[in-house]
Amino acid sequence: MILTEIERRLAKRMENCEEAATLKIAARASLLRSQGKQIVSLSTGEPDFPTPENIKLAAIRAIEQNFTKYTSAEGMPELRDLVAQKFKHDDGVESSAERVLITSGGKHALSNALFVLCEAGDEIIIPSPFWLSYSAMAGLSEATAVLVETKEEEDWLLTPERLENAITPASRLLLLNTPHNPTSTIYSEAHLRALVPLIEEHELIVVVDELYEKLTYDGRKHFSLASIPEIAEQVVTVNGLSKAYAMTGWRLGYATGPEWIISAMGRLQSQAVSHPSSISQKAAIEALTGPQESVEIMRTEFQKRRDIVVSLLKEIPNISFSTPKAAFYVFFSIASFIGKKLPSGKIVKSGEDICEMLLEDHGLALVPGNAFGKPDAIRLSFAASESDIRKGVAILKSALGMIS
Ligand SMILES: Cc1ncc(COP(=O)(O)O)c(C=O)c1O
Repeated sequence: MILTEIERRLAKRMENCEEAATLKIAARASLLRSQGKQIVSLSTGEPDFPTPENIKLAAIRAIEQNFTKYTSAEGMPELRDLVAQKFKHDDGVESSAERVLITSGGKHALSNALFVLCEAGDEIIIPSPFWLSYSAMAGLSEATAVLVETKEEEDWLLTPERLENAITPASRLLLLNTPHNPTSTIYSEAHLRALVPLIEEHELIVVVDELYEKLTYDGRKHFSLASIPEIAEQVVTVNGLSKAYAMTGWRLGYATGPEWIISAMGRLQSQAVSHPSSISQKAAIEALTGPQESVEIMRTEFQKRRDIVVSLLKEIPNISFSTPKAAFYVFFSIASFIGKKLPSGKIVKSGEDICEMLLEDHGLALVPGNAFGKPDAIRLSFAASESDIRKGVAILKSALGMIS
């Protein structure tokens, strides 16, 4: 039977919901690889380390002990309690098991928060460039994403002035990300404190994505907005195991915040997905209570790679970037190439054109800034081996040299 146009109609909320650009590029890269092409990928947003052995063993034990049934929708009470302790101990954020929700990844915690808090007519303030799923999630919640420009010369940070200019009577939520993907900047305590009067005055709810908390460089320390008592009841803090413990595939994240929000997020989760995998939850208990050395080993290695990639990129003419302070990305400007000609004769309109050429003609996968709201930039991930970083940057240098 052929479906009619009416039967094929999708809900309006799907209009701007495209597959994440990062996943699309990864899929294209693996297709090219399967066709026998050599591909260097500096596009992924995940640690290239294996999950630490003690965590894997905890999951194996969970399976062997038949810990394979439903848990409570909000997550295992023991894990919720441990996460509350983690927030208190690491971040100075007051928490308790009732104020914690265990989710299927940080992304799921973020979408839960947006979906219970926002609806049509609400505005979500998002500093731009932004992590690509924020605008898609805002769209799915049917709220309006209000993108507020941040600038490289201001360390890509949202200033109180820019925040104030973006606030309207419809402002409902501010979505912050520190440390930040794609710019690898980090908000200091002073920067966050400077935003507090506006957050208080305009009664904004703030969702803070702290997934890269453990990956900070040169002695910098992450600071949690929710540790400021005056606004603690307005903040939902999202974090998870993906980046800190190299556990992206385990899909284990969490959030803490006011009980009225967390319990609504739990109700939504209970109806939509029940709860994160029981096995991943057992692994999470081990991640949080077991030896922590692997976290520091990975952080040190990323800092070393950061130094390598920065020194290599500095040798490429006509690009500019600020040194990553955290996370594992270099977000470099290709503004000086806009309007120039690729070897194919195509005129460069944005990072997308350059990234397409890099992948299709030179076998290098990077992510165009278009995906992050900044079309004249490109994101390079140094969550890759030193040899891939060296190969990738050499390809980039030579390919950019062919643009005239
Ligand atoms: C800023 C940011 N937040 C959230 C996530 C999602 O993390 P998870 O794998 O825990 O869903 C990512 C993943 O790339 C990210 O970069």
